[in-house]
Amino acid sequence: MKLWSGRFSKDTDKLVNEFNASIDFDSRLYREDILGSIAHASMLGIQGIIEPFEALKITKSLEEILEDIEAGNIQFSKDNEDIHMNIESILTLRIGETGKRLHTARSRNDQVALDFRMYVIKELGEVRLLILDLIDVLCTISKENINTIMPGYTHLQRAQPITFAHHLMAYVSMLKRDVTRIEDALVRIDEMPLGSGALATTTYPIDRQSVAKKLGFSKITENSLDSVSDRDFALEALFCLSAIMMHLSRFSEEIILWCSWEFRFIELSDSYTTGSSIMPQKKNPDVAELVRGKTGRVYGSLITLLTLMKGLPLAYNKDMQEDKEPVFDAFDTVKASLPVFTAMLSTMSVKSENMRSAAAGGFINATDCADYLVKKGLPFREAYTIVGRLVSQCITNDKTLENLSIDEYKAVSPVFDTDVYDYISLETCLANRKVPGGPAPESVLIQINSAKDFIKERKIK
Ligand code: ARG
Repeated sequence: MKLWSGRFSKDTDKLVNEFNASIDFDSRLYREDILGSIAHASMLGIQGIIEPFEALKITKSLEEILEDIEAGNIQFSKDNEDIHMNIESILTLRIGETGKRLHTARSRNDQVALDFRMYVIKELGEVRLLILDLIDVLCTISKENINTIMPGYTHLQRAQPITFAHHLMAYVSMLKRDVTRIEDALVRIDEMPLGSGALATTTYPIDRQSVAKKLGFSKITENSLDSVSDRDFALEALFCLSAIMMHLSRFSEEIILWCSWEFRFIELSDSYTTGSSIMPQKKNPDVAELVRGKTGRVYGSLITLLTLMKGLPLAYNKDMQEDKEPVFDAFDTVKASLPVFTAMLSTMSVKSENMRSAAAGGFINATDCADYLVKKGLPFREAYTIVGRLVSQCITNDKTLENLSIDEYKAVSPVFDTDVYDYISLETCLANRKVPGGPAPESVLIQINSAKDFIKERKIK
């Protein structure tokens, strides 16, 4: 018999029973549901809404149910629709009449709002730690590659010299924002909705603040209608996850390029690549490709929930039961992607010679060559045109700026002297870019140290 069967004279159709039930996916909220119920029941006891001994009986039994679920000894049933009613039924089955008092001054609407919030808070915390692990690995690899010269690209064309460390630290900047974005979201999610009832609170003298405190929230939600109809917290979480995947997908794309034979900047470990069933020479970067691919799935979840919430009237609507699967899937996807991505990076080898020769071949010191003339007094635009002419000559004669003779230089502009060679050497080009945020080893070291502090501040907490 349904917990809500009072006003009904016919049984629920089998098809409806199937269609309506969410237990197959919301069972994963069991822990949050039980913790919420324990906090609610103790508050009811303290407030004298139920007898204190009944509150005790309820909380004790709920603790046992939690243990039994974790030990795998409980089977949920579709007849009880969702996790909330499943647990309440088990409770009543175990302790009889007293179990029926738990739902006093509460509705499934505020219950699910609470459970889902608690779940999102917990998962965001886990994702945050996984990002910190990735940042940590990137700092280690960067430290080792602070002098590893590589071409920096714009439009995927060789542009100016940077180091591998500088490139990796760009991802660290993105990932640090991912961490602080989660932290910002967590501040807003930190509001306890229980006590909002179905939509208009309750007439019982409940103490919402004490429930909030017991559950680790720092405040309660302000409006009961909003509390039961708000899913902004889940949307913000999905945006956080989408941004993380967007960053990982860009990184994946570069990994895929870098380990191609056209680039050969890195080699992934055998343990993090796969072979082909037909082409014996293949070593495929499946992990990076899958991370890139799974990004679409996480964006899909964000769009699903935005679309689900669009135009819904206040307050709770059953449509909102559809909020969970996209959120669960997005968290599962990000939590599966981050550790394997981190491990793939920490086991890759860096082909610094190949990076260096790519950096030496693409005129990436042309800007520096123009700057050399500027330092000798020419206006930048004029210097730019002169170097453009030199580059064009080099391309025709299959040369580089490094191996043009001084006479060839002087023929284009008498301002050139033999000190040009030192000025346009890749090492000088790098060392000269020591402004904050730049690729010079000393600047990158500052970035690495600040990222390490960022991790340390957070891992202590
Ligand atoms: N399973 C429902 C959900 O996930 C719980 C809330 C149901 N409330 C209701 N009035 N039917 O949204």
